[in-house]
Amino acid sequence: MSKPLTIADLKILARRRVPKMFFDYADSGAWTESTYRANEDDFAKIKLRQRVLVDMTNRTLETTMIGEKAMMPVALAPTGMTGMQHADGEMLAAKAAEEFGVPFTLSTMSICSIEDVASVTSKPFWFQLYVMKDRGFVERLIGRAKAAKCSALVVTADLQILGQRHKDLRNGLSAPPKWTLKSFMQLATRPQWCLEMLGTKRRGFGNIVGHASNVSDLSSLGAWTAEQFDPKLSWDDIRWIKDLWGGKLIIKGILDEEDARAAADTGADAIIVSNHGGRQLDGAPSSISMLPKIIDAVGDRIEVHVDGGIRSGQDVLKAVALGARGTYIGRPFLYGLGAMGKDGVTTALNVIRNELDITMALCGKRDIQTVDRSILANVPF
Ligand SMILES: Cc1cc2nc3c(=O)[nH]c(=O)nc-3n(C[C@H](O)[C@H](O)[C@H](O)COP(=O)(O)O)c2cc1C
Repeated sequence: MSKPLTIADLKILARRRVPKMFFDYADSGAWTESTYRANEDDFAKIKLRQRVLVDMTNRTLETTMIGEKAMMPVALAPTGMTGMQHADGEMLAAKAAEEFGVPFTLSTMSICSIEDVASVTSKPFWFQLYVMKDRGFVERLIGRAKAAKCSALVVTADLQILGQRHKDLRNGLSAPPKWTLKSFMQLATRPQWCLEMLGTKRRGFGNIVGHASNVSDLSSLGAWTAEQFDPKLSWDDIRWIKDLWGGKLIIKGILDEEDARAAADTGADAIIVSNHGGRQLDGAPSSISMLPKIIDAVGDRIEVHVDGGIRSGQDVLKAVALGARGTYIGRPFLYGLGAMGKDGVTTALNVIRNELDITMALCGKRDIQTVDRSILANVPF
């Protein structure tokens, strides 16, 4: 392949470069993966209105998400173990996002720590919080995000217990990793990745190891994470976090109108309509199919963002047309990172910007702020 032109191209390149267990970790959904597939498939069901002979000059994609300027309505979603798609992955992706002018969200379960990412960026990034049973750890994590001047806290609500992904179990992807002949072979056939990984010291969970009580290495980390996600997490905890944080708050993982109303009641700044990229409740509807209902329920009270299945700028435009103020990409940037490091993330963003810009023009619009349902030929949900 000469030059990747689409997110699908980047996916092909990432598959060649990243060891199978980590490529599969990104390219997988829970159980039958029906929700994972629906996230992508449902975007294709929405058709666009082709408009002609209207002025298409001087176009702009600039917008704001929670009041912060973005060059287009796209942010990088929080993804765990990003530093396993490419050595120092979170630092590279954060730099690419900063240079491009879109928000970067660092996962609690990242390889590079909050401090690592802060050390290579000059603008504030967003931090995604998993609420662990050890509330002291949560308080310290929030304190570290504040010290790093993160400008938004993204609380993930849809992972109180972990969905099951068959590929990860079959690949033995766990902490500590299960070393088998198969896993050694998966690494041995990706020598470039291995070399780069040997060249960095960041190979554990940077936000956790050395920060959570009794977690000093990979095996104690495995036991800790297995029992730390809090199945009792409640709306009261969200209020506690909001007070503790005191800044912009985004609630991620809302897929139901009733939950959207409860989220708006907390006074948070935004919600992300999301099913965790199809990685949690298999059989749940796609995010894009739920967006119109959630906009109708709370769109006048809280900013509504969406993620799941966005693979092109066309998908971003459709989400904006249905009322999303912003969107997030998970796998598209991970494929870019796995394929080509920082340049790959920039390529993923450029691909999406180019597709978004041309599609908006061909729908007869010059400014993303004026895009609404009128550009859609149908809304199938
Ligand atoms: C490999 C991977 C790891 C993820 N880890 C996290 C995480 O640590 N925290 C979180 O809130 N969401 C996590 N997500 C979900 C993403 O934030 C986002 O909701 C999802 O990727 C969007 O779907 P897309 O990948 O189709 O764009 C993860 C997704 C993937 C693919």
